[in-house]
Amino acid sequence: MEFRDLKRQYEYLKEDMDKAIQDVITDGQFIMGKQVMELEKVLSEYVGKKHCITCANGTDALQLALMAWDIGPGDAVFVPDFTFFSSGEVVVTVGATPIFVDVCNQTYNIDTESLKMMIEKVKTEGKLVPKVIIAVDLFGQPANYDEIKKIAKENNMFILEDAAQGFGGKIGKDVACSFGDISITSFFPAKPLGCYGDGGAIFTDDDEWNGMIRSLRVHGKGVSKYDNIRIGMNSRLDTLQAAVLLTKFSVFVQEEMEAIQTIARKYTKELMGLVKTPIVLNGYVSSWAQYTIQLADKVQRDGLQEYLKRNGVPSMIYYQKPMHCQRAFEHIRYNHADYKVTNRLCDTVLSLPFHPYMAIEEVSYVTELIKGYLKE
Ligand SMILES: Cc1ncc(COP(=O)(O)O)c(C=O)c1O
Repeated sequence: MEFRDLKRQYEYLKEDMDKAIQDVITDGQFIMGKQVMELEKVLSEYVGKKHCITCANGTDALQLALMAWDIGPGDAVFVPDFTFFSSGEVVVTVGATPIFVDVCNQTYNIDTESLKMMIEKVKTEGKLVPKVIIAVDLFGQPANYDEIKKIAKENNMFILEDAAQGFGGKIGKDVACSFGDISITSFFPAKPLGCYGDGGAIFTDDDEWNGMIRSLRVHGKGVSKYDNIRIGMNSRLDTLQAAVLLTKFSVFVQEEMEAIQTIARKYTKELMGLVKTPIVLNGYVSSWAQYTIQLADKVQRDGLQEYLKRNGVPSMIYYQKPMHCQRAFEHIRYNHADYKVTNRLCDTVLSLPFHPYMAIEEVSYVTELIKGYLKE
């Protein structure tokens, strides 16, 4: 069994995919070919934002957004403590300071009470200026944007939505990547909408930021690539990846989003009451980047992972270490006691095999193993 079986998806899409890739090779426009512009149009329409700017990966997408806002030394950027490293890494890359915030016990997304507390703390200390909230749509479920928007407004801060894992998620009719002042996603192969390599995209309604990001992604270009008016990056999405994404996109929206809800319901039905199953809030839709359960403690979690492995079932621990414990941030002082939920999650979570092409019998195989392990 595979954790996320991308080969099955390819088999399903093979004819269209092979043609899309061959077309790019025949055209020979490997950089900024027509598929890149077409993809940006399709995605901006789906998300409901005026601009979609594709780029090389989700990490660059976050960095480009911070660069467009001129975030740097002296600025505080608030980031959930329970997330992938990138969400905090980019803050240090631009010279600002990441302030990690504990997460909500139910959704694992940023806890808005802790967020308010951390913003107040930074204001009281007076060394840094609160500028940005990076809200992560963890495991596919959008963060609590009603509250986050209020907090951002009260404190005159920007929201950067990190929907690297969230593409396809919804709150009511609004889709992920529409909630931030700037929002980003990742097309890493295992993401809800993934390409065949690295890729990312940025979404905004703001014309000025759109122009700035388009310049920054091509070496700070002015009128052309050889007219350089600022320091930027080289961060374009390959035409081949755009063609792959265009081929996957309609299947993702029309079929895969439905299929994963069926898989998630089956897992939850079988496991509810035995382990802590994921909670999707009322009115929210998760795009299920991960299906993550919580065990009683580290011994039980590690034991289950080992047991699954012995029986041919891969599982992953997202995440093993809170962000505030990462050595890369050791120059910044954090108080371990501020992160009670994250500290516990890192010891108890386990993500199970999950993808839209998984057979119901495979889900049953996994859940029966879990039941057997818990009985022992
Ligand atoms: C929450 C989050 N943010 C950012 C990223 C970075 O995306 P990429 O791997 O495309 O750089 C990831 C990727 O795993 C992620 O999970």
